[in-house]
Amino acid sequence: MSDNQHLEHMEHDRGTWGSNFGFLMAAVGSAVGLGNIWGFPYKMGNKGGFAFLIIYLLLVIFVGVVVMLGELTIGRKTGKGAVGAYAALSKKYKWVGYLGILSAFTLLAFYNVLGGLVMRYMFGFLLQILGVDGFSGAGMGFFGYILYDYSGMIFFHVLFIVCNVVIVMGGIQGGIEKFCTVAMPALFFMLLFVIIYVAFQPGAGEGYKFMLTPNFEPLSSFGGFIDVLKTAAGQMFFSLSLGMGAIISYGSYLDKKEDLQKNALIIPACDTLIAVMAACAILPACAAFNMEYAQGPGLLFNTMQNVFLSMGSFGNFVGFMFYFLVFIAAVTSSISLFEAIVTWRLDVGIEKKQKVSRTKIMSIAAVCSFIVGIPVALDALGAADAVVKAPYLLLGMTPEQLAAGQVPMAIDCWLDFFDVISEGIFMPLGALIMAVLIGWKWKTRNLIVPECEISGHKFWGYTFFDICFKFITPIGMILVLGGQIYDFFIKALIA
Ligand code: PHE
Repeated sequence: MSDNQHLEHMEHDRGTWGSNFGFLMAAVGSAVGLGNIWGFPYKMGNKGGFAFLIIYLLLVIFVGVVVMLGELTIGRKTGKGAVGAYAALSKKYKWVGYLGILSAFTLLAFYNVLGGLVMRYMFGFLLQILGVDGFSGAGMGFFGYILYDYSGMIFFHVLFIVCNVVIVMGGIQGGIEKFCTVAMPALFFMLLFVIIYVAFQPGAGEGYKFMLTPNFEPLSSFGGFIDVLKTAAGQMFFSLSLGMGAIISYGSYLDKKEDLQKNALIIPACDTLIAVMAACAILPACAAFNMEYAQGPGLLFNTMQNVFLSMGSFGNFVGFMFYFLVFIAAVTSSISLFEAIVTWRLDVGIEKKQKVSRTKIMSIAAVCSFIVGIPVALDALGAADAVVKAPYLLLGMTPEQLAAGQVPMAIDCWLDFFDVISEGIFMPLGALIMAVLIGWKWKTRNLIVPECEISGHKFWGYTFFDICFKFITPIGMILVLGGQIYDFFIKALIA
């Protein structure tokens, strides 16, 4: 084989999206996930409802869209995943790409476990429909039961990873794109169905009120503002899959004729729409069935399961539908986390002209992510009597201190540990570095504009993007990281 033929063959191996619609479904699939359905509603509830929503929307426009465009451009221009892309632009900054890989593993550590739990609830409701008790006799207390059912936790953790392996092994067009083009529209209609059903439940109105009542109290002090800002920013990065390289990878498979700026707008718009829709399903459902707008995993699992169980026999059907749609949202996101890792190794192989096997790379990534996820699956969300001890227990703190609120959120259980370091630190840090590099070193005019215009579309909003890359995103991210460091270290020291 001549060198040229060889190269062509290799490029063929790497794969591309079949169409812009397919790419969009995959990218929106990456963005729409547990972050929208599990994180957004309760964070909005906790941090002032409407005030949170406003800050969130501003962040999406001034940081989300901008970083999205940056990542898509870097990916498509270099035709490489995060590590290869940074290395191609400046050898010195290859480590920023590795930071993304590290983020991918820390995110997968808990994402796979949550995905497994979603599958467990989905199967539970499926069994219920078939007339079998799907919740092991534990009924509404199932969440407390399943956390201690270690073999069940591991089984569903593995099952969820296996679903990822099957899809990612299929490659870009035949695996990820094919799955997302069917799954994402299905998710949209199922969510619509659940929203409409919930809206007709008596008492649902309270939930909308809870969501939309303006409460600017949380923003009235600087500390309060930073608190809302950093929660909203972490949520925004997590929800838009930014700051770690998943979008760079997806961008690297995108055809030169596609309009990057348009895509950089559509993805955040769809993601935000689905987040708000998810809140419109979950919070009113809680209100109608008198459930707490409990936090985190509690809301998606415990609370929602109880909502569906109290709906009577039709509830089994709605419950199945709900967890099925959450499963789709989760798996279309986790495949992009895996793809960030797979693309990196594929690029290395291609560069070294080695024979690369997507299947082999994906299998290794799957096993590694399983291993880092084990503590998350087995610590019963930080309970003192669980088989794996939560970080605060390992550090010698006590459950009494936890109950008294003296344990920082980052170490109260392994899930929060991985969640806080990824969405709280690595992702804003990744975005900060990228924005500074684009704004000041590689330059919006030299890097972003030409790549966007290659498709024949004129670049619009230059001043906006340039100011955002140079100033708004970096300053925002410094405030976020500052708030985060204050929370981790300084606040704990003062207390
Ligand atoms: N955006 C996904 C969600 O909201 C999570 C994710 C983060 C996926 C980073 C890929 C990369 O659930």
